[in-house]
Formats: sequence, structure tokens, C-alpha cells
Amino acid sequence: MKKQRIAVAYSGGLDTSVIVKWLQEKYDADVITVTGNLGQKKELTGVPDKAYKTGAKKVYVQDLRDEYVEEYIFPALKAGALYEHTYPMATSLGRPLLAKSLVEVAKRERCTVVAHGCTGKGNDQVRFEAAIAALAPDLKVLAPLRDWEFKSREEEIAYCEKHDIPVSATKKNPYSIDENVWGTAIECGILEDPMVEPPADAYQCTVSPQDAPDKPTSVTIEFKLGVPVALDGKKMSGFDIIDRLNQIAGANGVGRIDLIENRLVGIKSREVYEAPAAVVLHFAHLELERLTLDKEVAHYKSKIAQDYATMIYNGLWFTPLRPALDAFVNETQKTVNGIVKLKLYKGNVDIAGRMSPNSLYDTKLATYTVEDTFDHKASEGYIKIFSLPAKTFYRVNPNSFAKKRALKRKLKKATSRVQR
Ligand code: ARG
Repeated sequence: MKKQRIAVAYSGGLDTSVIVKWLQEKYDADVITVTGNLGQKKELTGVPDKAYKTGAKKVYVQDLRDEYVEEYIFPALKAGALYEHTYPMATSLGRPLLAKSLVEVAKRERCTVVAHGCTGKGNDQVRFEAAIAALAPDLKVLAPLRDWEFKSREEEIAYCEKHDIPVSATKKNPYSIDENVWGTAIECGILEDPMVEPPADAYQCTVSPQDAPDKPTSVTIEFKLGVPVALDGKKMSGFDIIDRLNQIAGANGVGRIDLIENRLVGIKSREVYEAPAAVVLHFAHLELERLTLDKEVAHYKSKIAQDYATMIYNGLWFTPLRPALDAFVNETQKTVNGIVKLKLYKGNVDIAGRMSPNSLYDTKLATYTVEDTFDHKASEGYIKIFSLPAKTFYRVNPNSFAKKRALKRKLKKATSRVQR
């Protein structure tokens, strides 16, 4: 009988290392590892070597950096997608692309099964499996962490030692870290107590605001059609802009996020993130939109932003909702062109200036000087009609206001009595 072939999404960390060996033993399978380069700094060195040493038949390390930036990060940036108004979603955005890359290799290598190293209580299992279901419904998916025999990291480490799997680097770190160019997620260890401030060693790529330089750093970012195209006047690839901004903003203590978030699987979790470039770019992009978007479009778009974020977070990247939302977002971005000047200082990002060929800011309308062209008299009639519904309502219901006032008086009396 022909050997089963399994493609594994492989990071080189403890879990996926154990998976490679475990699948060979349990299924007598040929294992092919697939690692995506999403711009992570630390993890990739030595990955192929490690995978072969662990028994992989074939090893793929895919350079997905530009695709990740252009096709995943930038749509999210244009949409203003921050999960629960805060998290730029480096992990959430990376998973569908890693799943896509896994599926491509699986097809090329004639695998009928794929496996990932996500736990049974996280969001990532959903993101992987929902993506695979959409892209290759015939592939069987294994999630060994949901049903293997190991109950702790120590047991996994013992298994590695028994099988000569190199794990030295993963043994010491008390945190679980997921990293790519859009940001780093740090979990576990002492961070599981939401009352404990993250210790200095939890942070991987930002300095503490306290230790940041005493002088602000200025940056200018140019946007075209809602995406960054130049940094400090220099045209650069999207990836390079993000990479460079991570360094500049990270050195100023910008991009640290400590968040209690709602997972898809119902758990509240405490997450610590570092996302210097993402924080800066979302800020800059929004500032440019304030200048260039029509009021109604801007207000409507901020509601869509929440839906877009939830879609990404919940693993619905490869569903018809995304292109539908993208169509709306891209339409709005036609005028989001221009330059934003920022100051980065001790953990803060401040706006220092903005400029756009599509600016809707009209000095002649805004000014209080003699240059003013605004028709002041037109306001009178405008306000009359604008306030007509309220006027009508209170004419018909004269007591609804009075009652509120009486209630307030009563409350005031009651509290003063308590104070005495
Ligand atoms: N909670 C985040 C998300 O679902 C990040 C998970 C990060 N995983 C990790 N191993 N640190 O997108």
C-alpha cells in the first residue's frame, strides 16, 4: 500500500515539531512541512534543518511577505479593521494565508491530509479549518493538539528528548509568541493574570515608553488609494514601509497593546500585543480619511470597519462577505491620497500635519477671518427645519421634558440626604 502523505503547517516550535514525528509514528505517513515567511524575525532561521532532523520527507519555506502585505494587511488597513476597536490582528490575518499556502503545497505534493498545530480552545483552529474548507473541501484536516495524548509541555518535551527532536530554544520561553511583520502576540505564563502588568521580558520588539528617547521622532507617510507608498519622502514597498516603521515606532515605545478580548470560542483572554507599524499606519490612515472622506461615507465606513474586523477575527476571510465589503471599502479609498506627518514620542502617536490633493477642508469655508465665504444667513432657515421634528415632538408632549427635570430634582435631594 502507498504511504499516506500529510502536509503540516510548521513553525518549528515545540508543538509542530512534536506533530511531525507523531504523525509519522501514528499514521506511518510521509510528512511534508510548510512554513510561511510572513516577515517574522526570529523564527525562520534553522527551520528547514530542524524539520529534516525531525523526520520531514520534504520541507517548504514559502516567501509570502509581499502577498501578505498587499492582499491581506492592506485590505484590513483600508477597512480600518481593529478587532474590538483595538487589535490590528497580525495573527488573525496571517492564518488564512498560511492555510492557502498549506493547501497549495498539499495539492502539489498529492497529499490527502493536512495538519495544523492549533489548540482546541483558540481562534486559529477556526481560521485554518474554515479557510481549508473553502479552498480545498476534499482535504482531510488533522488537529493533533485536540486529540493527542500529551497533557503538558513537559510531556511534549520528554517526547522530543526521546526522539532526538531539537527543542532547546523553545524550552525556556515562558510565553507563547506568534509573530509576523504586522505584529506580535504574546500569551501565557504570568500574563494569564489580568491584574499583573506585563513584565519587561514579555515584550519582544518595542522599548518601554519610559526608556524611549526624550525627543519626538517625526515621520511622514504618503498614501495612494488608501495604502502607504512612501516613508519620509522615499518610495518603498509596502513590506519595507511596515518593517521600517516597526523599528522607528518600536524604538519610541509605540505599539504596545494589553487587551482583554472575546475569542470566537467564547473565552475571554488576556492578550499582549506589539504592533508598532500597525498602530501608526491605522492612525495615519484614519487621519487622512478625516481630511478626504465625505462625512456620510466616513460615518458609514466606521460601522463597516467593525464588521470587517469581526470577519477577519472569526476566520471568514475566504467567504463571499470579504469581496463584498472590499468593494465598498475600495470605492471609498479612491480619494484617500496624500501625506500625513506624525510625531512619535514615548509611546504616543500624534498628528503633526496632513495634506491631500483630495482634501475636503476648505479654508474659505472654515476661516473666521475676512476671507470667509460661508453663508451665515443660510443657517437660520437650515436650523429651523433641522430642529422641526424635535420642536413638533415637545409641542405635542410638553411634559416629557418637565418629568425628567423633576426626576433630577428628586435624585439631587436624595443624594444630599445620604451625604448628610
Ligand atoms: N488572540 C489572538 C488572535 O486570536 C492572538 C493569538 C496568538 N497566539 C499565540 N500563540 N500567541 O488573533
